[in-house]
Amino acid sequence: MKRVLVLSGPNLNLLGIREPQHYGNSHTLDDIHQALCHKAEQHQVILDAKQSQSESRLIELIHEAYHDKTDFIIINPAAYTHTSIALRDALLATQIPFIEVHLSNPLSRESFRHTSYFSDIAVGTISGFGANSYFLALDATLNQLNAK
Ligand code: DQA
Repeated sequence: MKRVLVLSGPNLNLLGIREPQHYGNSHTLDDIHQALCHKAEQHQVILDAKQSQSESRLIELIHEAYHDKTDFIIINPAAYTHTSIALRDALLATQIPFIEVHLSNPLSRESFRHTSYFSDIAVGTISGFGANSYFLALDATLNQLNAK
């Protein structure tokens, strides 16, 4: 069976509470994780979903995904999108294909959010659709896995 890892970065555990004008308030991250697992299961895919505030933990989770032979990563690096060369390097080192996801559209926000350390090495980027960005990313991932 194919394996997919969904990773979310700092403050995304506060989904539902946090800045609803940007991130919505109808879903918690746990709701999203559960629905993603359910959908993946229907497609005979093993999906693991994790969140961490810590850059080092996110890097470790990418290394573990490599050792577990994970086929694909969906990652919302949150604020690390705009800062983390180390997280970028972990994805480059492991060569696990990934989709970059954002709930909001960072390009329509402050200029410091316009830089991403991930977009140029991602299979693709999905942003601006709220919680649905994660589900669109899973659809795209399932397509990618079937295309292989
Ligand atoms: C985010 C966008 C980032 O700029 C921000 O720092 C986040 C969330 C999003 O999902 O829209 O924490 O990645």
